[in-house]
Amino acid sequence: MKTLGLLLVAALAIGGSFAVDKNNFKTCDQSGFCKRLRPFKPEKSQYTLNLDTVIVHGNVLSAEVTTVDTSTEKRITLWHYALKLSALKDGTFRVELDEADPLYPRYRSLLALNGEPKPDGLKLISNENGKLTLSNTQGHKVIITAEPLKFEFVNLAGDTVVVINDNHQLLMEPLRVRREKASDDEDANMVEVAAPVFNEEEIESGNQLDEGKKVSIEDEEGAWSENFKSHHDSKPRGNEAVSMDFSFPEADHVYGIPEHTDKFNLRTTTSGEPYRLYNLDVFEYELDSPMAIYGAVPVMYAHGPKHTAGVFWHNSAETWVDVVNYADSTVVSSLVNLVTGGQKRRVDARFFSEANVIDVFVLLGDKPADVFRQYTALTGHAPLPPKFSLAYHQCRWNYVDETDVRSVDEGFDTHDVPADVIWLDIEYTDRKKYFTWDPLKFPHPTEMVANLTAKGRKMVVIIDPHIKREAGYFLHEDCTEKGYYVKDKDGKDYEGWCWPGSSSYPDFFDPAISKYYSERYLFDNFPGTSKDVHLWNDMNEPSVFNGPEITMPKDCRHYKPPQDGHDGLASFWEHRHVHNEYGLLNIRATHDGLLLRTDGKYRPFILTRSTFAGTQRYAAVWTGDNAAEWGFLAVSVPMCLSLASAGVSFCGSDVGGFFKYPEAELMTRWYQAGAYQAFFRAHSHIETKRREPWLYDAATLALIRDALRRRYALLDFWYTLFYEHSLDGLPVTRPLFQEYPREEETYTIDNEYLLGDKLLVHPVVEPGVTSVKVYLPGAETNTLWYDVDSYLAHKANGYFTQEVTLAKIPVYQRGGSVVPRKERVRRSSALMADDPYTLVVALDHNNTAHGTVYIDDGETYEYQQNKYIYARIDYEPSGITYSFINEHAHYPSRSWVERIVIAGIKTPPKTAKLHQGDKQLALQMTLHKGNDVLVIRKPGANMATPWRIAFSY
Ligand code: NOJ
Repeated sequence: MKTLGLLLVAALAIGGSFAVDKNNFKTCDQSGFCKRLRPFKPEKSQYTLNLDTVIVHGNVLSAEVTTVDTSTEKRITLWHYALKLSALKDGTFRVELDEADPLYPRYRSLLALNGEPKPDGLKLISNENGKLTLSNTQGHKVIITAEPLKFEFVNLAGDTVVVINDNHQLLMEPLRVRREKASDDEDANMVEVAAPVFNEEEIESGNQLDEGKKVSIEDEEGAWSENFKSHHDSKPRGNEAVSMDFSFPEADHVYGIPEHTDKFNLRTTTSGEPYRLYNLDVFEYELDSPMAIYGAVPVMYAHGPKHTAGVFWHNSAETWVDVVNYADSTVVSSLVNLVTGGQKRRVDARFFSEANVIDVFVLLGDKPADVFRQYTALTGHAPLPPKFSLAYHQCRWNYVDETDVRSVDEGFDTHDVPADVIWLDIEYTDRKKYFTWDPLKFPHPTEMVANLTAKGRKMVVIIDPHIKREAGYFLHEDCTEKGYYVKDKDGKDYEGWCWPGSSSYPDFFDPAISKYYSERYLFDNFPGTSKDVHLWNDMNEPSVFNGPEITMPKDCRHYKPPQDGHDGLASFWEHRHVHNEYGLLNIRATHDGLLLRTDGKYRPFILTRSTFAGTQRYAAVWTGDNAAEWGFLAVSVPMCLSLASAGVSFCGSDVGGFFKYPEAELMTRWYQAGAYQAFFRAHSHIETKRREPWLYDAATLALIRDALRRRYALLDFWYTLFYEHSLDGLPVTRPLFQEYPREEETYTIDNEYLLGDKLLVHPVVEPGVTSVKVYLPGAETNTLWYDVDSYLAHKANGYFTQEVTLAKIPVYQRGGSVVPRKERVRRSSALMADDPYTLVVALDHNNTAHGTVYIDDGETYEYQQNKYIYARIDYEPSGITYSFINEHAHYPSRSWVERIVIAGIKTPPKTAKLHQGDKQLALQMTLHKGNDVLVIRKPGANMATPWRIAFSY
């Protein structure tokens, strides 16, 4: 079996056919709750808010919600729920629904939120005709209809932007007790299931569910167990699914819910599978698919010309999402009429999850940047990364030994190609035992690392979460002894199969285990590592080769803090509750460990494959095992746009493609695209032909070198963007509509994007093309876009045809912006620290431009003690001013300005004079008439203190 698998991998890597084995992964019909809930479309919701129970206190409205059987005159109360609506800062509301008295507590994700969300005020404005109207302090409103329960969220312009339960698909399956099977003389097909008793009065009035809750096996197939292929899921708590529908009036499209290989704007799912969110290791994942892959971030945004809104479905269990865009031609007009009264500008979405409480955040925008900010305000901003991690990474499965590492490292120098990091994949370990080195191939890790760091380079090594079950392996022995592994359904250490063979998985949900795991990263515990060795956490969905859907069985058990009265099923979480969050706890432990090992002095870099809400606080993400095919290059753009909108700006794909071998043109285009994506790493499968840049012909090597140099020249720009991202949480890599929200053409553009609000990138992702159609937004505001190669200005006017050669990377700088560059590219970014800047000023039609630059030591947390420079560069016709945004922050930068390029200059000044402190200096200028470029040569201004250049005309 295993040999066959390896053969298949080998065949594929060298160019065999490439296709996902769909049999390994569930369709909606094969996933019990999806099959059960998807058709759930009642005419009227049974959920009713009991108006007598409403209490508004502080920022929270609480009330009882019941389900009522209205099919008979008796109006039998079926179940009781507790509702909480909270007003949060910055146009955000939270809706929580739980059973009033659940049999066992239902799970709430532990780590997605970056602490408690900040409360806003909440006021009940009116309570009449069965409707409550509430407002936060800003004036956003919520109208709650009691029966059937419905929420309408109204933005500051008075537009209803999100409606909950308009389609009556709110549902929370109550937890129930499973009784012993009926004795033989009773109906053999009957399993009695009793409702928990919830209310004494109702028992007396006969108003509980005793009869109604007896269900036969035929009636409720799979309620207490499910099978998939040869895997059995014991489902000890029975069915516990939840569902909620959201309508977005006046929305043209919805976006988000990464990770999928689909377009950025999501499509209507009615005629196919819903989008699935379940972290899975999908071998040979397919393109244009709603299938689940490694990541699951349950946030969705809806956008139209009037407004933007969003919902964050805070749930770590398996989730499916249906989308209906009423403007899609596939949606039949009778449905459009029925639901929207003919209004096509509306999108409906429905989230349904296998378990947990209903906990949803409603983000009221009202512009795209607002919803992106509102989401990261909840789940956290990515911290400022160490600077090297924004440079180029060279990886392969595997650099086989120390000699190999040395020769790859030297290869970069010999061929004059910059690189910052060499990566080691799983083969560096002693037979897949993490935190060890192969004693024969990597006998001198300390020296190997020192050899790299001497050139300012770093190393990243992989540590996967599975632990080899081998006697004598300290990690396995410790985890076994201390009970640190995830347990199977019977409470024994769970054993699965992964790279090392038989493996077990640390249960990061136990703080003691996470602490123990973090401490493994201490230099004494992981000899050979230093502050310059960073981490790659792979396979953390978790991947289990012999598990259901290549992951952990859902009835495995995770730690739950002991609580009085919580025994039996209430004393642990099942894997089904926490699945999508497992990788997040893994990378948090790694992050803690990397901080611990330097006493919090140095910023860690971590790469993760599994992704959930909040991942951005700890790690960068890459899109997993792609292939050397043009389609995978193209999809890297929408995949990273989607992740960036969901908080994860630090995203990239394996440059060159993981499986198969990229021929020269594909490799060139991939480097060119990667040079403008946040995480820039080449990687390849163990069975593929080697492909370091110099192994290609000289012309290709030159093109790759050029792409890499472009990246290094812009490193300070990237670093500034990530600094700003750490402050405002806005995507670094932006969809066009974030900056141009009224331009409808941009809503479906996902083959180009913006870096911050300054550069527009349109990577070439097709073979053999001599031109590409580039969309330049901003016609309404007379925006100019300057080709970064020629400085020729294009007026924003929608699409234009850009001629391309193999050397061309279509990138444009927005008129009105200033971009810092460093043009002396060296072997690694660290060696460029003191190098001078070139400032590229691209003028707008008012002859002004603005930009920022951030400078610090690139690696420590001293910036948190004001050891940095964050400066503005303002160009006005009278001169250029460099001033500190935070005047208390300083950094003794030795960098100076060696050149200022002013593009689009119509009336050049006659003189330019630098003023810095006591220094005054008349400057030399050269005018290039053909493209209206003025170059100020060697201004020599130092970046450590403010300066001004004054012009005279
Ligand atoms: C799977 C990862 O996606 C891939 O990048 C890595 O090379 C292999 N695991 C081996 O560690």
